[in-house]
Amino acid sequence: MNPTELQNGAAAKHKILFVCLGNICRSPAAEGIFRDMVEKRGLSDSFVIDSAGTYGGHAGELPDSRMRAAASRRGYRLTHRSRKLTEDDFRNFDIIAVMDDSNYERASRTAPDIESIGKIHRMTDFATKHVWDHIPDPYYEGAEGFELVLDLLEDCLDGLLNRLVPNGSTGN
Ligand code: 4NP
Repeated sequence: MNPTELQNGAAAKHKILFVCLGNICRSPAAEGIFRDMVEKRGLSDSFVIDSAGTYGGHAGELPDSRMRAAASRRGYRLTHRSRKLTEDDFRNFDIIAVMDDSNYERASRTAPDIESIGKIHRMTDFATKHVWDHIPDPYYEGAEGFELVLDLLEDCLDGLLNRLVPNGSTGN
């Protein structure tokens, strides 16, 4: 804990932003699942969690109804409203977790400087069970596409949380 954190009486928070294309399928699902995992481990006060899209055409919308239904069957409630990724996001968040290479490239173009590009991570790099190099876009797929996204995200997000807060630690 650094002196400023001690003065404030709290440890620094982990600030995580999940990013996909439309911010109505994959990234709001990642946000909802991660919120649930963090809450179940009693770590909500140690995290800032949000999501955004590189394309703003769905701004203001709730997640896709197919994504909400699939997530709901696993106990996740998705209430995020879609918004476009901004330059300020690179100042406000420490980890920008993208779903695929196209997201990576588009997010890189929004980053204000080289150091900010270093904050972008591929979601699948956190997986411990599945061997995929991207979270596939389910928008034009059938129901099984949404289930696959949730399977992959649960694995990656478990890996991400364990990397940030190793199991058994309180996060402080
Ligand atoms: P997402 O899925 O990037 O996981 O939110 C998509 C949502 C909308 C579109 C494409 C992908 N779209 O073309 O509108």
